Amino acid sequence: MSRGGKRGKGRPTQPPAPQGSRPAGGASSGARSGARPAPGARRPPAASRERVPMELARPVFFVGFMGAGKTSVARRLARQCSVAAVDMDSYLERREGRRVKEIFADVGEEGFRAIETDVLGELAAKEPLLISCGGGVILREENRAILDEGGFVVYLRVTADEAASRISDLSTRPLFDDLDAARARCEERLPLYEAVADVTVDTAGKGVAAIAREVQRLLEKEGVLCRQPR
Ligand code: S3P
Repeated sequence: MSRGGKRGKGRPTQPPAPQGSRPAGGASSGARSGARPAPGARRPPAASRERVPMELARPVFFVGFMGAGKTSVARRLARQCSVAAVDMDSYLERREGRRVKEIFADVGEEGFRAIETDVLGELAAKEPLLISCGGGVILREENRAILDEGGFVVYLRVTADEAASRISDLSTRPLFDDLDAARARCEERLPLYEAVADVTVDTAGKGVAAIAREVQRLLEKEGVLCRQPR
């Protein structure tokens, strides 16, 4: 599914150095594909041979229910394309100096949502990044407007049952209390995820690497992820 009607915008600010990410155009140990190795030179390992330095024409937001694989897929894609990725919740926790579950305990869901909106706006205004969003980012209309404005939204679809089997520590997710409630929440949010999505990727039965490759192909096709000129 693709709407493809949005246009990218220039982002004048410098990219951050988010944890676990690498800046666009950063050093890549991979050989250029197609380049012949010098006689006697050792070929780089297959994983680094696959890396082609690329750049993002606009921010890419990963949305989907908790456990959809947003963070893992964004990180994987960042590595394989040498672009920067940031996880919204980790960024928010560093900025606030508290864990998400502590924020929920201190100021409740509404308080958390207000911080989340602020962080989303902050990240969307930076140089284009791969941004893995918290699962509830689609709940507020103002967030949906930010997603819609100049970014490209990848919806990773997952069922609550599959999500539950993927999340190793459910105590870090204050809103994934029990499976029945999670099923209802997932169902309830479905139209909102679909409304913001530029593309939807079904994650059922797929591993992170396969999903990241699929997303890469889609982003290249849409002109959002482009090979850097040599
Ligand atoms: C939430 C999802 C979490 C986190 C918070 C609320 C939600 O992020 O933002 O616990 O409302 O779905 P992940 O989707 O990364 O687990």
